[in-house]
Order: sequence, then C-alpha cells, then structure tokens
Amino acid sequence: MKVYRDEDADLDLLKGKRIAILGFGSQGKAQALNLRDSGLEVTIGLRPQSPSRKKAEQLGFEVQSLSESCSGAELISFLIPDQVQKEVYQEEVRKNLKEGKCLIFAHAFSVHFKLVEPPDHVDVILVAPHGPGEVMRKKFQAGLGVSGFVGVYENRTGKALQKALAYAKGIGLTRTGVVETTFEHEALGDLFGEQAVLCGGLAELLKAGFETLVGQGLPPENAYLECVHQLDLIVDLIKRFGIAGMYSRISELAEFGSYVNGPRIIGERTRMAMRAILEEIRRGEFTEQFMKSYRKGFEAFKEKRQKESAHPINQVFRNIGESFASE
Ligand SMILES: NC(=O)c1ccc[n+]([C@@H]2O[C@H](COP(=O)([O-])OP(=O)(O)OC[C@H]3O[C@@H](n4cnc5c(N)ncnc54)[C@H](OP(=O)(O)O)[C@@H]3O)[C@@H](O)[C@H]2O)c1
Repeated sequence: MKVYRDEDADLDLLKGKRIAILGFGSQGKAQALNLRDSGLEVTIGLRPQSPSRKKAEQLGFEVQSLSESCSGAELISFLIPDQVQKEVYQEEVRKNLKEGKCLIFAHAFSVHFKLVEPPDHVDVILVAPHGPGEVMRKKFQAGLGVSGFVGVYENRTGKALQKALAYAKGIGLTRTGVVETTFEHEALGDLFGEQAVLCGGLAELLKAGFETLVGQGLPPENAYLECVHQLDLIVDLIKRFGIAGMYSRISELAEFGSYVNGPRIIGERTRMAMRAILEEIRRGEFTEQFMKSYRKGFEAFKEKRQKESAHPINQVFRNIGESFASE
C-alpha cells in the first residue's frame, strides 16, 4: 500500500480555486483554518441563524449561505454531520453543481450508502482524517499532521486523485501520510471499527471490567485506575511498537496472564458477533436504523446517551480520573 506524503501532493492544483467548507464544527473549523494557512481560498457555508456564524467571522472567514457558498466554489467540502448530508445535498448543493466541480467527503458514508447520489459530471473524492478536528488543528500548528485516507468515487476531470492529495496536503495529512482506499472500504471499515472495536466495543469492555471489580468489593476508584485510567499507556505502546512490542514491554506476569485469559474474554462468540455486525453494516441495515432514528429526532438515542452518562464509571471519572488526566 503506497503512503503518499507531502512530496507526492501539489498544492498549486488548488491555488486560486475557491473551496466551500459546509459546516464549522469539529472538522469544518480545523480544515478551514489549515487550508487558509496553506494559502488556499476558503469560504464557509452555514445555515441561516447559525450559531457558528459569529465564530467563523471572528476568525476572519467570509460566511455565506450554504447554497451561495456552493455556487461560487469549485470545490465543496461536506463537513456537516453525516445524517444531514442527504437533505443539504438535495436542497442546497445539487443545483449548484456545474461541470467539473469537486465534492469532497471526510467520510464515505453518505455516498457509499447512496444518501447522496452525485451526478457524473463532477469529481467526487474522499479525504478522511484519522482524528478529531481539534487534534488535527493542534498538530498542524506544531508542523505535524494526522494520517488519513484518500479515495476517488468519480473522476470526471482525470485529476481527482491529485485533487484529493492536494486537499490532504492543505489540511496537513500528507505530513504524516495518507493511503488510498475505496469509498466502500472506508465506509464499512470506519463504521465497523468505531462500533465493534474502538468506541462501542472498548467502552463495553472497560465497563465490564470496572463492574466486575466493584461487584466483588473493590473500591470504585481502585477499579477505575486498574481498568480504565492506564489505557492510554498501553495504547501508546501498541501504536509505537505493535501488539507484540507492547507485550515485550510489560511485565512477564502481565504478559503470561494476558495469553491465558485474554482469549477467554474475546473468543469465538465475539468474533461471530463481529461478523454479524459487519454484515448488517454492509447490507445497509445499520444505515437504515440510524437514519430512521434521526428522522424521529434521535429520541431513543438521546435517552440512551443520558443513561450512559449516569453509569458510575463516569462518576468515578469526575471524582478522580479528571484530575489524573493531566498527568
Ligand atoms: N469529528 C471527527 O472527529 C471526524 C473525524 C473524521 C471524519 N469526520 C467526518 O467529518 C464530517 C463532519 O463531522 P463533524 O464531526 O466535524 O461534524 P459536526 O462538528 O457535528 O458539524 C457541525 C457543523 O455542521 C452544521 N450543521 C449541523 N446540522 C446542519 C444542517 N441540518 N444543515 C446545515 N449545517 C448543519 C453545524 O451548523 P451550526 O453551526 O449552524 O450549528 C456545524 O457548523 C462527517 O462526515 C464526519 O463523519 C469527523
């Protein structure tokens, strides 16, 4: 797999071409600032009465309506929540898509699952950073970048990949490196990764460990420090040295016990569940469930969020974890 870096990307391809950034949230703000610092021309597209208008203007950006920003730009970057992209595309973007314009997505979700169905007279590309906007911006200011994916769905102009690489350079990703992927692989991999492993799977694993220790009489603070608080240290070792490298850097007692009991926690049943989750994502069932919940105002989702935040593990975080987090 080729890793593209700064020397493989030509920012000049985007110089003098106006880029509309739709949204000024986590990704929108960070990408707009990084692109501008890279010498590119940016305008921000927001809905009427947007609370973000003032923030963007204070940072010196021109703010337009969603439709106006798309009409005057050659590149249009979708940095609004995935669930609203369909309606914004249909109402504000589609009518402004002249031959040869370029649509940019930070996640392949809307295009792969056909919530957004772009015409074939525009380029459609993916530039997906591997990190939240705030981290991306901080790293950019320090001369660094987060990694990311680039991809091409529609190559009308014959320059779609070069545009994706140039945009990735503009937001700092090629400082670390980007790899090319397909919209399908990014959409499936990203949803699966966050649901089954990185966010959903991990949070349940941490809670299960915490609940087990507390249930058997250990103080909650003790359970928190053992099962949650040290996570970043282990993740850091895995990122820098791989899983085998992590094992070689912990005690033999910890390594021995991990081999004996790790597979008892994540065994064949978990793998079966993972395959089922991936199948549901692939068939579009998860997308349907998500969009249906959105259309109902995310009612059940909001209830679930409240219930989650009431879990004792969050109380312990506030009591002890928060103050230790700055170590
Ligand atoms: N966040 C991440 O860490 C991350 C990482 C990689 C990729 N991505 C992808 O990047 C994209 C943007 O995600 P994000 O987390 O940056 O989004 P976000 O912070 O939730 O986006 C908020 C912005 O979207 C605007 N917005 C919300 N609803 C809207 C609507 N109905 N019409 C028009 N504008 C609306 C908001 O407008 P107001 O200002 O008016 O409220 C705000 O400016 C998504 O595709 C996501 O999957 C995100």
